[in-house]
Amino acid sequence: MSARHPVATLFVASVTAIALTVAAGPSTLPTGHRQKLRRVPPLPHPPLDSATELGAPLVGLTPDQLAAFEAGREEFESIETSEGGLGPIFNDMSCASCHSGPVSGGAGTTTVTRFGRASGGHFDPLVEKGGSLLQARAIVPEAQESVPPEANVVGQRITTPLFGAGLLEAIPDEDILQNEKRNKADGVSGLLELRLTRDLNAELLMSDIRGQIRNLGVGLKLDSTEKGGFRSQLGAGGAPISISSINGDVVLRRD
Ligand code: HEC
Repeated sequence: MSARHPVATLFVASVTAIALTVAAGPSTLPTGHRQKLRRVPPLPHPPLDSATELGAPLVGLTPDQLAAFEAGREEFESIETSEGGLGPIFNDMSCASCHSGPVSGGAGTTTVTRFGRASGGHFDPLVEKGGSLLQARAIVPEAQESVPPEANVVGQRITTPLFGAGLLEAIPDEDILQNEKRNKADGVSGLLELRLTRDLNAELLMSDIRGQIRNLGVGLKLDSTEKGGFRSQLGAGGAPISISSINGDVVLRRD
C-alpha cells in the first residue's frame, strides 16, 4: 500500500458522507449549513488501499451506497432557488459554490462571518440573534441579517475542505467515548525531553515514569520519592513542575 492511498480514500469517503447527509435533509436546506449533520450509515470496511480519485466514490460501495453517493453529490452541487425553499436568509445557493477546490467538498476562498459575545470567560453564540453564523444574503431586503451590536467577537472563517469529515462522522459516538475512557490513564507515550533554563527555580516532581530518567549533563540531584518517582530541586526551588504517566524515557537538558 503506498502512502498516497489511505489519504485519497479519506478524502473520497468524506465527500460520500457529506453528500449522503445533504441528500437525507429536506429540500429547503439553507446553504449556510446551520442544521446538525445527520448520522451517516456506516460503511462496511472501506477498502483503505483503494486507488480512488479525489471526489470519486469509494471503491467497493454497494449499489445502494453508490446511488446514495450520487444523489448526495447532486444535492451538494445543486443550485437552490427561493422557489425551491432557499431563504429567507442564506450564504450561497449551493454547497459546492464554496466547497469547490479542487473538486466538490473541497476548500474555497469564500469566507463566512461568525459572531458572538464573550464576557467573564463565557462565550455566548447569540443564537437568538442568528449567531454564531451570519447569513450574509437574503431573498428580500427586510430579512437581511447583520452582526448585532451585542457581539464583541466577530471573525471571518475561510472555507475548509470537508474531506475526512465523513469518515469521522461514521464512527459511532459511543466508540469515541469508549476510546477516550480507555486511553485516559496512558499519559504520554514516547520520549519526553525537558529543557531547563539555567536560571529556573522550581521543584521538579516526576512519578509513574515507565522508562529511564536521563540526566544529560544537567547534574541534577534526583531524590526518590515514596510514590516510586523522583523529585529534584532546580536552583533555589519554587513552584512545582509535575510530570507523570510517561510511557518512555524522560531526558533532562540544560539550555
Ligand atoms: C458561503 C460559503 C459556504 C457555503 C455555501 C457552504 N459552506 Fe460549509 N463551510 C464554509 C466555511 C467558511 C466553513 C468553515 C466555518 C468555520 O470555520 O467556522 C465551512 C465549514 C463546513 C463544515 C465543517 C464544519 C465543522 O464543524 O468543521 C461542513 C461539514 C460544511 N461546511 C458543510 C457544508 C454543506 C453540507 C453545505 C451546503 C448545505 C455548505 N457547507 C455550504 C463555507 C460554506
